[in-house]
Amino acid sequence: MSKVLRALAIQLFVLMVLAVAVYLFQYLITPPYPMWGLVLIQSVLAALLTVKFGLPSWWRWIQFFIPIGLYAAIVLDVNPWLGLAGFVLLWLVFANASKERVPLYLTNSTTRQAFLELIKQVQSKQSRADVCFMDLGCGLGGNVVFMSQQHGVAQSQGVETAPIPYLIARVFTAFRGGQVFAQDLWKTPLKDCSIVYAFLSTEPMPRLWEKAKSEMRPGSVFVSNSFPVPDLDPSEIWELPDNRQTKLFIYYL
Ligand SMILES: C[S@@+](CC[C@H](N)C(=O)[O-])C[C@H]1O[C@@H](n2cnc3c(N)ncnc32)[C@H](O)[C@@H]1O
Repeated sequence: MSKVLRALAIQLFVLMVLAVAVYLFQYLITPPYPMWGLVLIQSVLAALLTVKFGLPSWWRWIQFFIPIGLYAAIVLDVNPWLGLAGFVLLWLVFANASKERVPLYLTNSTTRQAFLELIKQVQSKQSRADVCFMDLGCGLGGNVVFMSQQHGVAQSQGVETAPIPYLIARVFTAFRGGQVFAQDLWKTPLKDCSIVYAFLSTEPMPRLWEKAKSEMRPGSVFVSNSFPVPDLDPSEIWELPDNRQTKLFIYYL
């Protein structure tokens, strides 16, 4: 069963349990009960069951806010078209969350500083000065711009398929440097890239490593922020001194 259907089934299950509980409760405390209280119970129970039923932990938040959001929309008499517009907007930003299991979150500045060390390492391994950087799923293009401004980086590129992040990245790089393409990362050739960076999720890592291994040249490096390639020892793991204790998994080809 898909994750969305599982999440909906959990909400329905909690709703039924709550309906039975409300029915039985009338013999103890005379109704009516405050609607906001029931909505809150629905939200909390759905969020708790979400992890128990094998959904990723960040789905708890979605499950928690769905009943509250629907209730708020009813109370505030929100125009349903506004809801649809909000949904479309969310899709334009997070298009890859359902298809690729990769939402949008961004690399922080501590991690970008670590890229400088990577540039030096790749330069010495390849014994050449110019480095080509590729951000697979480049989000808003921050890494691409940063790398384009570094000494020794001949080419800094990114690919992105979520429409709004792509447009933002396109504008950002047009003014500040680097190149971004509206292209699926799976169709992006990697043979000319000396640093390939991915900050995606656990889901695509096995397939992505196969792609990197078959296309990247010796001396180049594949870096995954936070998500290691399963069943493969990285060449190095860099633990960064930021709040989220970022780990960079470094794989030399
Ligand atoms: C977690 S974000 C990382 C953004 C950026 N690389 C950074 O580190 O700041 C992952 C991005 O990958 C994009 N993405 C996911 N699957 C993709 C695919 N198949 N092709 C291109 N982009 C993809 C998502 O839309 C999202 O913007």
